[in-house]
Amino acid sequence: MTTGRSLRSALPALAAALAAALAAAGCSPAAVRPEAAAPSPPPWEADNPVRPLPVPPLGSPADFATVPWVTPEKVRLGRWLFYDRRLSADGTISCATCHEPEHGYSEDRPTSAGIRGQVGTRKSPPVLNAAWPIYPVFFWDGRARSLQEQAKGPMENPIEMGNSHAGVLRTLHGVEGYRPYFRQAFGDDRIDIDRVAEAIAAYEATRLSGDSAYDRFDAGDERALSPLARQGRDLFFGRARCSACHLGPNFTDSRFHDVGVGWRPPPPGHPAAEGYRDPGRFAVTRDPKDLGAFKTPTLRDVARRAPYMHDGSMKTLREVVEHYQQRGDASPNLAPDVALAQFTPGEIPALVAFLEALDGRGFADAPPRIFPR
Ligand code: HEC
Ligand code: HEC
Repeated sequence: MTTGRSLRSALPALAAALAAALAAAGCSPAAVRPEAAAPSPPPWEADNPVRPLPVPPLGSPADFATVPWVTPEKVRLGRWLFYDRRLSADGTISCATCHEPEHGYSEDRPTSAGIRGQVGTRKSPPVLNAAWPIYPVFFWDGRARSLQEQAKGPMENPIEMGNSHAGVLRTLHGVEGYRPYFRQAFGDDRIDIDRVAEAIAAYEATRLSGDSAYDRFDAGDERALSPLARQGRDLFFGRARCSACHLGPNFTDSRFHDVGVGWRPPPPGHPAAEGYRDPGRFAVTRDPKDLGAFKTPTLRDVARRAPYMHDGSMKTLREVVEHYQQRGDASPNLAPDVALAQFTPGEIPALVAFLEALDGRGFADAPPRIFPR
């Protein structure tokens, strides 16, 4: 493929050299056959060229050697598909409607709004460093086991993109311009839902986050963190016990916990379990201990995606930190580490300053301006 490409791009130069040689020999330049010139690429291709895989920023766990299925050709195709609203039933919603680049591929509203303005009950999680989790579990309740499997869900979710897989494929088969890019990414023209999902997942895998103030401090730059953020760092990894769950380069254990969000005491005489508004992980395992348990979210770029939690119920980072400190009504499955968190009111701004120091780079992008037709 690379050979084909470099040959094609070399053709105009070859044609020019040949024309010059012919002219020097007294022959007419018209002797050069017009087919020898490379056809200029369609405008959408110039707008979204094949790019090398990104170099992971400092502190990001990304290592493309471990995901050989992620290739530059698939990423290019996936970038179109991720932003292409034609994949939804009425052409209004793309993945990026709810996973916006400027919010770390999450969003700035409490719960997602999909097709025909329908509002869901959960917030869209960020998609950052997503191809390198500790355990492969996706969605707040972990019901998908890979990025590829995950990507198939929203297209046929009635309140997200409202389409069917058959509908998505019918649309893509009708877009002649997409065909060559499936061939370049997968070796032949076939367009099926697994390929669509894999290309989208490949694009998602290139959305990285690292090189935050925290990463630079960790790498030895003492001045990268303010004294307040440094105090917050010590608390986070120490007495406040945050790193019992928010651990590793992505600040998540890929596990499920009830941290007391979305539970209200039920009326007297009713079992405490009835107080959960969203069953969380229980929907997958049917284990009562998983009621109200949600996947620990990454904290990278957390300041860019208020409001917080699976239901978007907390408006600010300060509110989140205060929540961890509260000793109010305790939900039945409340995680012991949360119950043990101890810090003084004066330490709240320190923890917030540390969370703000997790804003990084490596994911910036804007939607392609034109799409294959
Ligand atoms: C209408 C809004 C909406 C659209 C459109 C949407 N998503 Fe989501 N996405 C969400 C919500 C909400 C969740 C969490 C749902 C849950 O946990 O049950 C989610 C979860 C995810 C996750 C899991 C992240 C994690 O950490 O577990 C990924 C990855 C993702 N979406 C990718 C996509 C892709 C790819 C598309 C397009 C094919 C897409 N989304 C379309 C709202 C949306
Ligand atoms: C027992 C595991 C656990 C501990 C300990 C813990 N967290 Fe969390 N954290 C979670 C889970 C799980 C969620 C998501 C809960 C939900 O949405 O219901 C979460 C959510 C968050 C969020 C919101 C992120 C988002 O994208 O919405 C922030 C911020 C946060 N935690 C910071 C902290 C801080 C600071 C501490 C220490 C004071 C801490 N966490 C301690 C598991 C934990």
